[in-house]
Amino acid sequence: MQKNKVYIETYGCQMNFADTEIVMGVLQNQGYEITNQAEEADVVLLNTCSIRDNAEQRIYGRLGNLKTLKYGKPAIVIGILGCMAERLRKDLIEDKKMVDLIVGPDEYRRLPEYIDTAFSGEKGIGVRLSRTETYDDIIPYREDGLQAWISVMRGCDKFCTFCVVPFTRGRERSRNLNSIVDEMRQLSNRGFKEVTLLGQNVNSYLDDENDFADLLAACASVDRSIRIRFTTSHPQDLSDKLLYTISEHQNICNYIHLPVQSGSNRILELMNRTYTIEHYLNLIERARKIIPGVSFSTDIIAGFPSESLEDHLMTIDIIRKVRYDGAYMFKYSPREGTKAYKMDDDVAEETKAKRLQEIIDLQRQISFEINQEQIGTEEIVLIEGFSRKSDQFYSGRTDSNKIVIVPASESIKIGDYIKVKINKASSATLFASFEGIIDVQKDALPLTA
Ligand code: SAH
Ligand code: SF4
Ligand code: F3S
Repeated sequence: MQKNKVYIETYGCQMNFADTEIVMGVLQNQGYEITNQAEEADVVLLNTCSIRDNAEQRIYGRLGNLKTLKYGKPAIVIGILGCMAERLRKDLIEDKKMVDLIVGPDEYRRLPEYIDTAFSGEKGIGVRLSRTETYDDIIPYREDGLQAWISVMRGCDKFCTFCVVPFTRGRERSRNLNSIVDEMRQLSNRGFKEVTLLGQNVNSYLDDENDFADLLAACASVDRSIRIRFTTSHPQDLSDKLLYTISEHQNICNYIHLPVQSGSNRILELMNRTYTIEHYLNLIERARKIIPGVSFSTDIIAGFPSESLEDHLMTIDIIRKVRYDGAYMFKYSPREGTKAYKMDDDVAEETKAKRLQEIIDLQRQISFEINQEQIGTEEIVLIEGFSRKSDQFYSGRTDSNKIVIVPASESIKIGDYIKVKINKASSATLFASFEGIIDVQKDALPLTA
């Protein structure tokens, strides 16, 4: 019998990308063939994101395009997975009749059944959230490569007042440590060189008595030639033990994504972020002491309800004080069902846009300055492939996640760690010369500079 073909598009955060690999693992087990051509698929799935309104609008736009596909091939099943499935099931199935299938993040195990329901002409709907599902035993479908993700926990219990994630992903739960370490081993055997451990709030990972620091240490020990990254850390739970673990393991990247959201204590309280700016700055200072040279990135929201000019200037101030390597910066977007939705969205659109632009400009300037300071220094780079612009150059990244361009040469292979010297920099990219190969078998690593 000919196999059914499935095509998936993924939107949103890295966790959604990791989930797509789980979904493909589940479907492949059931005999589906994965295709990267929507036109030839029997099942077209969108793994969706609800974090801001524009994320959802993009999906509605895409669904509009897919309708044409469905006119030409009525038997095709079009489905929504991920965070929008939880938020908009009624809207998508009853009101707009746009899709045949809606399956939320905790029901992927049963996806094949729901697809069968949809093939039989009914709507396949699975949107229950679970307190226990972690997909421990599912082997994700991964193409060969250098970089991989592992979800180490699911859900979020923080309930920041602006955020839909606790509603779309349900309660926090951690995956079993041994199953994660096993997956690390499989990745090592397949030659992966960089693994990112994922969770909305990895610092609250807990499996029996093992906390996130224990998990990181266990993962780092599997294969010293694999760089370990992790995201996201919540400033409330980042422990000194974790900082020491990062500093003790040469292959754990000296890089922490630590969303601050706002520089104003009043706004942080309205956001239910549960820390103050003083606590946050203290944490940054401790991290810099324990992990010399550590880099930070952050997330910032401009224009949260009631944000005054003074609050905004405090955000500008925190960006100046910390000097982040990079930042993800957003305009506040009200999300139905959250606590902040009930607050008055009273910062005018133009004001939000103006404040966001100021934040972006400042961050760009700081990234540029930090990169300029790198000129003349040595870095260790994992070579990932040819540069986007030319195959005369390789592109790779430092442990602080900066893109580095080096001239291609016969002595360098994709997947090598090399030592480079930085000789030019823009706000987004470093340019470097080749200094030598790091022999991960022989050299006592540092894989981090
Ligand atoms: N769990 C992570 C990230 C979650 S979503 C954390 O706690 O940091 C990624 C980022 O999207 C958030 O850090 C926040 O800056 C932004 N975000 C979330 N909800 C938003 C909203 N309603 N409007 C604008 N930005 C939002
Ligand atoms: Fe959302 Fe806050 Fe949880 Fe992050 S920690 S996912 S921002 S509720
Ligand atoms: Fe989006 Fe869901 Fe991730 S809302 S950011 S895909 S957890």
